[in-house]
Amino acid sequence: MSIKIIGTGSYVPEKVLTNFDLEKMVETSDEWIRTRTGIEQRRIASADQATSDLAYEAAVKALEMAKTSAAELDGIIVASISVDHVFPSTACILQKKLGAMKAFCFDLEAACSGLIYSIEVAHALIKSNIKYRKLLVIGAEKLSSIVNWEDRNTCVLFGDGAGAMVLEKTPEGAEDCVLASNLGANGTYTEILQIPAGGSRMPASQQTIDNKLHYMTMSGQDVFKLAVNAMVSSCKEALAFADMPSASVTWLVPHQANYRILKAVASRLDIPEERVYMNVNRYGNTSAASIGICIDEMNRGGFVKPGDIILMTAFGGGLTWGSILLKW
Ligand code: ACO
Repeated sequence: MSIKIIGTGSYVPEKVLTNFDLEKMVETSDEWIRTRTGIEQRRIASADQATSDLAYEAAVKALEMAKTSAAELDGIIVASISVDHVFPSTACILQKKLGAMKAFCFDLEAACSGLIYSIEVAHALIKSNIKYRKLLVIGAEKLSSIVNWEDRNTCVLFGDGAGAMVLEKTPEGAEDCVLASNLGANGTYTEILQIPAGGSRMPASQQTIDNKLHYMTMSGQDVFKLAVNAMVSSCKEALAFADMPSASVTWLVPHQANYRILKAVASRLDIPEERVYMNVNRYGNTSAASIGICIDEMNRGGFVKPGDIILMTAFGGGLTWGSILLKW
């Protein structure tokens, strides 16, 4: 049994926040942000938009391309660290908005690796169980709601958006679009990237609010080094499994964290920069949404053609990482 991506969709909110806008909010400069991260602007959701609203817009486009009605979906997986509520799941909220009443629904939390984790789970579900034919996977984030806008170490990095894919079981004998995949995690580094309060460890209180513990905190340099090492070894593992050299990769699609991370990963894999898809300059780091937005832009923009080899790789809080080698 095999799967195919039959539709992609993405959405970014209208509001653009430039580096120059950020200069007025914290002590930073366009020059610092551009040279350290490659980011020039990011999109910010409006006050009345929640993560499920961003996911909905991306999902509708993916379903339209897949010529699939929401009622046909067997399942919805939403990857996010900025869910609408701790519970119910954002996937359930999305199910209602779409009218996908046959679908099972759950959220998957693997930070920036969330979409890679979700595709791997959806792939396994489709391959292992005759019941599931069409699944919707979405990375969606309203990171602006969990960013401390007074902390220049983090607020310049993140943006909002959503990227969706419809996966379908293909007829017996058809080639699987997933050539290789792997997931990984290392829980010894949980503290270098986290939201300290709001969970059972430190429930919300006046003190946690006063100390701004409901926002993302990050040790940037530690994350940087670990991100490069993890993504490179994960990509190498996927390539080795498929018995392919990195020269056969048409596009490397890394999680859009920071263009210096992307360049370092590509260089260590011997993949030239012109074969690395990058939009971090326009959207910043949209966590679980970033690879989905890239793939949809590439698909709709004619950057990919049947037979192309795409290597997607991501890294995020947890720590988590993963790679998927796809034949388009
Ligand atoms: N503007 C100006 N100066 C700044 C800013 C800013 N926005 N932010 C930090 N600085 C200062 C620091 O205070 C420091 O000053 P000091 O030397 O006086 O102490 C100086 O700039 C250098 O700081 P560094 O942390 O060394 O800068 P670095 O070159 O490492 O870049 C960055 C920082 C961009 C955060 C980088 O480390 C990075 O990209 N890390 C990875 C982050 C990431 O990818 N996270 C992804 C996971 S996110 C998730 O999973 C949700």
